[in-house]
Amino acid sequence: MYSGVAVEKGNNNGKKKAGIIASTVVFGMGMLMLGMIFCIRRKKFRMNDNFKDVRKEDMELPIFYLSAVANATGNFSSRNKLGEGGFGPVYKGILAEGQEIAVKRLSKSSGQGLNELKNEVILIAKLQHRNLVKLLGCCIHEDEKMLIYEYMPNKSLDFFIFDQTRRKLMDWSKCMNIIVGIARGLLYLHQDSRLRIIHRDIKASNILLDNELNPKISDFGLARMFRGDQTEANTHRVVGTYGYMSPEYASNGHLSVKTDVFSFGVLVLEIVSGNKNRGFRHPDQNLNLLGHAWILWIKGTPLELIDECLANSSNVSEVLRCIHVALLCVQQRPEDRPNMPTIVQILGNENPLPQPKQPGFFIGRNPLEQDTSSSRNNVYSANEASLTSLEAR
Ligand SMILES: *[C@@H]1O[C@H](CO)[C@@H](O)[C@H](O)[C@H]1NC(C)=O
Ligand SMILES: *[C@@H]1O[C@H](CO)[C@@H](O)[C@H](O)[C@H]1NC(C)=O
Ligand SMILES: *[C@@H]1O[C@H](CO)[C@@H](O)[C@H](O)[C@H]1NC(C)=O
Ligand SMILES: *[C@@H]1O[C@H](CO)[C@@H](O)[C@H](O)[C@H]1NC(C)=O
Ligand SMILES: *[C@@H]1O[C@H](CO)[C@@H](O)[C@H](O)[C@H]1NC(C)=O
Repeated sequence: MYSGVAVEKGNNNGKKKAGIIASTVVFGMGMLMLGMIFCIRRKKFRMNDNFKDVRKEDMELPIFYLSAVANATGNFSSRNKLGEGGFGPVYKGILAEGQEIAVKRLSKSSGQGLNELKNEVILIAKLQHRNLVKLLGCCIHEDEKMLIYEYMPNKSLDFFIFDQTRRKLMDWSKCMNIIVGIARGLLYLHQDSRLRIIHRDIKASNILLDNELNPKISDFGLARMFRGDQTEANTHRVVGTYGYMSPEYASNGHLSVKTDVFSFGVLVLEIVSGNKNRGFRHPDQNLNLLGHAWILWIKGTPLELIDECLANSSNVSEVLRCIHVALLCVQQRPEDRPNMPTIVQILGNENPLPQPKQPGFFIGRNPLEQDTSSSRNNVYSANEASLTSLEAR
């Protein structure tokens, strides 16, 4: 009986239990279905993620492991250091597969977020031109940010043109090829690439040379990556190298494509003469290389500018053309300077050109002149204009 009652009660309980069980089962099945739907959706998301990875590969941005880069460069040993650019040291490395690379280890001052930096690198990796150094990928690990470039065995232009011995390895036709190549690379950066980059630091040591001494502009896009949102001392800084900086940029921070045009003009005069603009001192007059070239031009003896190593191999009409174009590029007022499309065009034809006006910064040492890229040691403030105009695309 007791048990009957118990059963009775049990049955009652059982009904409740059955109810509870039933609802639990229904609830459970519901959850299961929800779960399944969730799983399927997650799978879809996963697939999207994979797809994204594939797309990233399409965009040609291999990510290198820090361990691989450290191994390749002997733990960034000073033996493998190639030099120090405006944005950090550069190391030579050899990957496990034997490929030679150049690793630029970016200084930590770019206040850029990681994603922003990655996006910027992806964009810059897409810039491809035979006169730009090829970016192979990047390595981003906590504080470390590195760009990996193809390695250029013949170093940079300054290594050749300012060295009395190596200079003899260059004849005029190689020099002309280098001048035209730099102009084409700059034209691409200014106009033909989708990013519209102002380099800001065109100089002999930023022009690398491949096996056949073809010029490749390096460090392009770095100025762009380091823009904006920088902290304290690094805010609003002028990046560039004295001796190559145009007057309006060096003194007011006013940046435009004509800033690069000015630097290009200085570089052409350096290639033709074998002298550095910064540090050149004419024995009698207090003139830098620009001033010296200008005086020779006015006197009607511009060919005196040419380095004697080049004299035998030179083509007089081409040399005159280059000096003339260079003097147009270094004119004081940015609006008087030609732009890169015009420069590429006039370097390649023999049509008459306008007379150049007086160059900017042609007196001996200008008070701002220093030894290194301002981006590295000699940072000084400029007004907001430099950053604002840099953002213009
Ligand atoms: C490190 O470099 C050596 C040769 O220098 C190579 O055999 C090895 O595979 C490399 N290790 C990694 C992790 O890349
Ligand atoms: C690099 O450093 C790590 C540890 O810091 C060491 O195990 C490794 O042998 C080093 N590699 C080279 C090539 O010096
Ligand atoms: C440039 O590099 C290549 C390959 O390393 C070498 O054979 C050639 O001699 C170099 N040219 C000059 C002018 O040094
Ligand atoms: C230029 O050529 C002349 C004779 O043709 C020769 O005497 C002179 O050494 C050459 N100069 C250079 C720098 O090669
Ligand atoms: C000099 O350069 C011009 C223009 O590039 C060319 O037409 C001419 O044939 C060259 N002269 C010589 C002697 O190479």
